[in-house]
Amino acid sequence: MTQVHTIVFQQKTARMRRLTETAAGTPMGQLLRRFWHPIAVSRDVEVGKAKAVRLLGEDLTLYRGESGDAYLVAGRCAHRLTMLHTGWVEGEEIRCMYHGWKYDSDGKCVGRPAEKSCREPNIRIAAYPVREYSGLIFTYIGDGEPPEFDLPRKDVFEHDGMLLFQRKEIWPCNWLQHVENSLDAVHVSFAHQMGKVGAFGEAITQAVPEVSYRETEAGICQTAVRVGSQVRVSDWTFPYGNHVLIPSADREDPWIETSHWMVPIDDERTMRIALFAVPSTTAEVDERLISYFRECEDFNSSDLHRELFAGQYPTDPLIRLTSAQDYVALVGQGVIADRVNECLGSSDAGIAMLRRILERELDAMASEGVCKKWRRLEQASILFKDGELIRG
Ligand code: FES
Ligand SMILES: [Fe+2]
Repeated sequence: MTQVHTIVFQQKTARMRRLTETAAGTPMGQLLRRFWHPIAVSRDVEVGKAKAVRLLGEDLTLYRGESGDAYLVAGRCAHRLTMLHTGWVEGEEIRCMYHGWKYDSDGKCVGRPAEKSCREPNIRIAAYPVREYSGLIFTYIGDGEPPEFDLPRKDVFEHDGMLLFQRKEIWPCNWLQHVENSLDAVHVSFAHQMGKVGAFGEAITQAVPEVSYRETEAGICQTAVRVGSQVRVSDWTFPYGNHVLIPSADREDPWIETSHWMVPIDDERTMRIALFAVPSTTAEVDERLISYFRECEDFNSSDLHRELFAGQYPTDPLIRLTSAQDYVALVGQGVIADRVNECLGSSDAGIAMLRRILERELDAMASEGVCKKWRRLEQASILFKDGELIRG
């Protein structure tokens, strides 16, 4: 390798590292901490119970008080640092299992049973705001006041007469691979046709699309035009939300509005957490959808890692199959894809645009501290097929 090649190699390595690393103190970690993040499905946090969660490399304790409200505090007890979720909830407070120190929902230590002093201890652990929305729990772990809870919302999740479903999976690869996959309409014609063609692959067809990307006030609008008059528009929202329209497992049932968030647990694991909205129609269809989503609730492609890499895909034609196909593609790139050795083509325009925007935002944050003010945009996610508009 010549000296010039070595310098180019080192520069690209550093640029890609800046995009993938999310811990506190890293540039991307700082940028991501300016947003609300989904951290759990509401039903997974029972009243009076606590669970460990991890976000952007930080261990946290999520618990639900006896009033039903959810709270988020630091992952470890201030005393001798054992994990707080292993303790128990008392009212709206949480007690450490090791020596019984107790914390309120603001993280203030309100009890140290083995200490003789009756003075109130001046000890605190971190505590973060929590917001429950459409069956998901969101938090803000950045500095200062959280931004308005606006970007994660969608009108379609707030309409009357919609059935809402939630699910999550945790995959062993970096968050940026998930985000790049959202901005890669071409993969649908291959990854979702490979091994087994399900409802999604069938609806989108094998035809390789002409893709175009446009930055919006919310993120990136992605348009994929396939021969046979099929146009697919999806709405990607900064920093890692993707809203698309997908068919139901049963061809006759209504199409499903789907939002995915690709939440960095740390640099080597990502939680794909999703919210689905389907218009309620007949009791029979509703029941079919409810039981379908219930069956998918606990599915996590990483549990089938070995089978999937051996080409054995789930029989379910929709969520489990689509997820498994994406899993093989993304985890197949490596835990953190070695982008220095990739060869992008013109059809990777969405990925190039994404990286340019991320780099621009990181540069703006580093120089003036002021980044783009992203706004919620009710952009339609549509599929226009054979002269028929599936939604608009
Ligand atoms: S480690 Fe929590 S009370 Fe001692
Ligand atoms: Fe996919």
